[in-house]
Amino acid sequence: MRPDRRQFLGLAGSGLLSAALAPSLIRPARAADGVLELRAMRAEHRLAGPDQPPSHLWTYNGVSPGPEIRVRQGERVRVRLVNELEEPTSIHWHGIRIDNAMDGVAGLTQDAVPQGASFDYDFVVPDAGTYWYHAHNKSWNQVGRGLYGPLIVEEAEPVFGPGNDVTIVLDDWRLTPDGVLDDASFGSLMDWSHGGRLGNWPTVNGENRPAIALRKGEPSRLRLINVSNARILALDPSRFGAKVLAWDGQPLPQATTLGYAPLLLGPAQRVDLMVTPDEDFVLEEVSADEPFPLADFRVAGQGDMTPAPRPLPLNALAEPDLAKAKTVKVDMAGGAMGGAVSITYQGKVLEGEDYRRTRQVWAFNGVANRIDSPLFSVRRGETVIIETTNNTAFAHAMHTHGHHFRVIERSGAEVDDGKPWRDTFLIGPEQTTSIAFVADNPGKWLYHCHMLEHAAAGMTGWFEVT
Ligand code: C2O
Ligand code: CU
Repeated sequence: MRPDRRQFLGLAGSGLLSAALAPSLIRPARAADGVLELRAMRAEHRLAGPDQPPSHLWTYNGVSPGPEIRVRQGERVRVRLVNELEEPTSIHWHGIRIDNAMDGVAGLTQDAVPQGASFDYDFVVPDAGTYWYHAHNKSWNQVGRGLYGPLIVEEAEPVFGPGNDVTIVLDDWRLTPDGVLDDASFGSLMDWSHGGRLGNWPTVNGENRPAIALRKGEPSRLRLINVSNARILALDPSRFGAKVLAWDGQPLPQATTLGYAPLLLGPAQRVDLMVTPDEDFVLEEVSADEPFPLADFRVAGQGDMTPAPRPLPLNALAEPDLAKAKTVKVDMAGGAMGGAVSITYQGKVLEGEDYRRTRQVWAFNGVANRIDSPLFSVRRGETVIIETTNNTAFAHAMHTHGHHFRVIERSGAEVDDGKPWRDTFLIGPEQTTSIAFVADNPGKWLYHCHMLEHAAAGMTGWFEVT
């Protein structure tokens, strides 16, 4: 689960590391009025730097990250997905409590959109916060090639001004020694059965180590989104005096200085930070002996101290009723070094060569990629506690669709930092984590690992709210 410094440095040392000063590739898009067209298409992008050969990415509208969709809380979002790829695709709106029909899960809530066809998404965003969108058909391939973008829902009355609100999309690419996207290793069974597709080349907003401008002495909001397939990023925001405003889009009651380090940001997770910088600083990955730089923040301006902004208003999430909850257990098993487990896939117990043929090597409650029946069903309005036990040798990033949950217990102990609301939680080997939420959104909702190779290789199930 730890980034490999040698891997990161493998390319940096070959002279590809450039302190790019080009403006962010994130293009703002206003989707509130009218329909935003997102064309899934191939495009060239020089991941390793302007002087390096281009990689062939899959993008929305020619850029990765795709256009930033920025709307106000309660607004309607209308997006027309036009598929110009040779492979069917769909879009999921990660973290949005959405109508089931708009959730974008190919094979569960809609059919994948074939080449040349289009699909209209139309939904309202109930919660303010930092979200993202990404392909949800063969995500390990499509997200891994660049099909994702930020979805920012501003508070009904914005708390930070436009110049003090910065989106930071963090990705982790695997490049060949020539500095282009390593195409040949997509789908590697080694990745699927181990820690997922880990890269060797970090980008922020599509660039390696960009410089990002901030205003001196003014509180700014940094919206960090980890879109990588499998990389858990270790960050230490206290090093530049940052406080945590929100996890996975949901604000904390007040901005909080983390009492621990590192902050682990798993695949699909978000954290909103508040910084009030006096001088330049670097956002670093800190899991190795020496920190690895991800982005440089350049601070300029008058430095008149502005007052701290008011706290972010909380979203109206239904409080789980633990006394009346229905508890369901999910046992995670399989993968390399996980010991002998029995895995059923499409009604058959796998053995021998079956693993290689089906590529199903992980399971929830003994079943890989259970799509024909739900993991559990629950009546609308009921509180559910999902108690998940990780009986594998790897960390995972578990995600519920359609609902945010409170993390209430981790390996038998209460979660001390206020049982935060999240939509994705990290679980280490041998850990048990309980989450609780009110199942108030009818439909079929995925519960899966957001390490996208794990999801494809068996760690996908769903629950039904009726
Ligand atoms: Cu980010 Cu099933 O999704
Ligand atoms: Cu996993």
